[in-house]
Amino acid sequence: MDPGTLLARITDYASRPDPYPLYAELRAAGPVVRQEDGTFLVGGYHQIAALLHDPRMSADERSRTAPAPYEGTRDASFLRLDDPEHHRLRTLAMRPFGPPHSPHRVDAMRGEIARITEELLADLPADRPVDIVDDFAYPLPVIVICRLLGVPREDEPRFRAWSDALVATADIRPGEDTTEVERAGDRAGAELREYLLDLAERRRGRPADDMLSAFVNEPDPSLRLSPQELAVTAALLLIAGHETTVNLITNGVLTLLRGPEHLQRLRREPGLLPLAVEELLRYEPPVHLRERVPLVDIEVAGTTIPAGTSVMLALASGNRDPLRFPEPDRFVPDRPDNEHLGFGSGIHLCYGAPLARIEAQTALGALLPRLEGAEPAEDPPYRQNAMLRGPRHLRVRM
Ligand code: HEM
Repeated sequence: MDPGTLLARITDYASRPDPYPLYAELRAAGPVVRQEDGTFLVGGYHQIAALLHDPRMSADERSRTAPAPYEGTRDASFLRLDDPEHHRLRTLAMRPFGPPHSPHRVDAMRGEIARITEELLADLPADRPVDIVDDFAYPLPVIVICRLLGVPREDEPRFRAWSDALVATADIRPGEDTTEVERAGDRAGAELREYLLDLAERRRGRPADDMLSAFVNEPDPSLRLSPQELAVTAALLLIAGHETTVNLITNGVLTLLRGPEHLQRLRREPGLLPLAVEELLRYEPPVHLRERVPLVDIEVAGTTIPAGTSVMLALASGNRDPLRFPEPDRFVPDRPDNEHLGFGSGIHLCYGAPLARIEAQTALGALLPRLEGAEPAEDPPYRQNAMLRGPRHLRVRM
């Protein structure tokens, strides 16, 4: 088939259960392939890794000349900003979360994450198949990120609607008119920012042990986020903190159910769990595609990509590239030399990776004994999103 339609075929909902043959087609045709609409798609591990580290590649959608970026009211978070602004905001956001300022913050959450996991498992329904997504993999990271940020967990139904609308704007829909999706995202973003700012304001002068308190009570003005920056950053953390981890846990369960030999091996050797989670991030990554825009004309593997053009980096394809990983389509729980692209690479390398790793290791470790003999009640329906790919439900008879 025409390689120029690959992005459209990959993002087509019908491909969601198994996009991997299309990634193989991409690597065979590429590794850099121009699409019908003028955008470029990159599927080779080494090319993707190089582009993620290339300062000539912008993460800012405003660098795009074609197709033109949507002119809305959303302020970009540091996920979609370039250095030096990206570095400034990421460093400030890191102060209450990770090293060097808070080196123990995430590790100190281990006990709490284990406790939340046990509570969710104790509440699993006995009278119907368990939905791994709704009953377990979604609530766990939501409770954890709410606790970290200082967002009341009871407000989940409110921010779920905002989060859904915002995540839809990050989806890739070649050829579709996304104006309505973008407008709904603008409204959701404005409401979510107002909500988070209000929560932060209530902690001004009355700090609790959470990140919103730390942001709003920062005494040094040079280290303080402006109200707008605070709201945008908190929204990013809230959404990034749960929309991806849910897929990692669910993909993990599905992979273990489809390969009972891996399940048994992990039960015998639970010390392999950290490596198995890395392998999951390679084999079934929650984030499949990321966009970058060259600031100048650049040449990649003999193809010139003009400045201002949208370039889709297929991280999930890079993870299955046989030029980087031997037997890439096999799940190998103790795979050595596994520098996958599941958390990206370069300056935008996932900020929450240490937390996501603990959540996935704890969740899958606690589920292992219950998955013995369990089977999926059906092939899972997938979420619409092609960029953040994962099952919408995973009903399992336990
Ligand atoms: C399994 C779970 C997760 C996966 C697979 C994941 C994946 C990723 C990837 C691929 C990127 C790079 C995006 C790019 O280069 O354009 C990224 C960035 C980011 N992630 Fe995660 N993430 C996960 C969990 C989390 C959590 C739990 C948090 C928050 C606590 C988080 C916060 C962020 C932030 C703030 C960025 C932007 C970093 C920057 O631009 O410097 N992520 N993530």
